[in-house]
Amino acid sequence: MGEVITITSGKGGVGKSTTTANLAVGLAREGKRVVAIDFDIGLRNLDMILGLENRIVYDVVNVMSGDCNLSQALINDKRTKNLYFLPASQSKDKDILDKKKVRALIDELKKEFEYIFIDSPAGIESGFEHSIFLADRALIISTPEVSSVRDADRVIGIIDAKSEKAINGSEVIKHIIVNRIKPEMVERGEMLSVQDVLNILSLPLIGVVPEDEGVVSSTNRGEPIIYNDKSDSAAAYRRISKRILGEDIEIPDIRGKKGFLKRLFS
Ligand SMILES: Nc1ncnc2c1ncn2[C@@H]1O[C@H](COP(=O)(O)OP(=O)(O)OP(=O)(O)O)[C@@H](O)[C@H]1O
Ligand SMILES: [Mg+2]
Repeated sequence: MGEVITITSGKGGVGKSTTTANLAVGLAREGKRVVAIDFDIGLRNLDMILGLENRIVYDVVNVMSGDCNLSQALINDKRTKNLYFLPASQSKDKDILDKKKVRALIDELKKEFEYIFIDSPAGIESGFEHSIFLADRALIISTPEVSSVRDADRVIGIIDAKSEKAINGSEVIKHIIVNRIKPEMVERGEMLSVQDVLNILSLPLIGVVPEDEGVVSSTNRGEPIIYNDKSDSAAAYRRISKRILGEDIEIPDIRGKKGFLKRLFS
């Protein structure tokens, strides 16, 4: 049975879709059968980041409402054969997802795939709740900004209260990814350090992705940065992929000695 990994955050625009695309490619390139689902109904953009927008015919809502079957809607990435993608619908009705139908879909995908990545929408409305409900594991993305960390903390609380695992008395595995860190700013004490973020969220870290202009251009080209062998952020995504597989790979120390909080309180 496949593992459901939800990529989420409190604050919007912190890199959920970018992370979903890169880790989905990353695990597929590790030889796993992977599907990435966009749950950001109405605002889909995972398709663009993956460079698959021109191949969309059906979407997740079409599958749930029986307009097509799952295999008609799944798009196979030509570059990475093990990777499949299920797009969000552009419906204006954000509440279109239905708990029973989401479960039926995820159950079907779990039979076929080893990893099911769910890209969660911004905000904590119904789309978000659907995206965390069936999660086995959640990767919580935060940038090193106070507002982002605070909102991440809120989302962690909701996962612990409203996921199916929580309702059944167990726990969703949770890890933090700190995205867009600028080591030189941390060094100068002008930005929260990774350690500052972890002190607030008290969850284990699974990766740190540096600020990288290449991410923006690769998104515009529809080619996730992880394909680029020379990029630091790509290397970070490859390491996170391996850690998801249980490999023990050290997280390079870009934590920054003197973070913003330390400076503030010193
Ligand atoms: N490490 C990074 N370095 C530079 N830019 C980045 C990085 N990660 C993400 N970005 C940029 O930040 C923007 C937001 O990223 P993305 O769309 O992945 O966020 P999101 O959390 O999915 O947003 P939303 O909440 O709207 O769904 C994009 O322009 C993306 O290219
Ligand atoms: Mg997004």
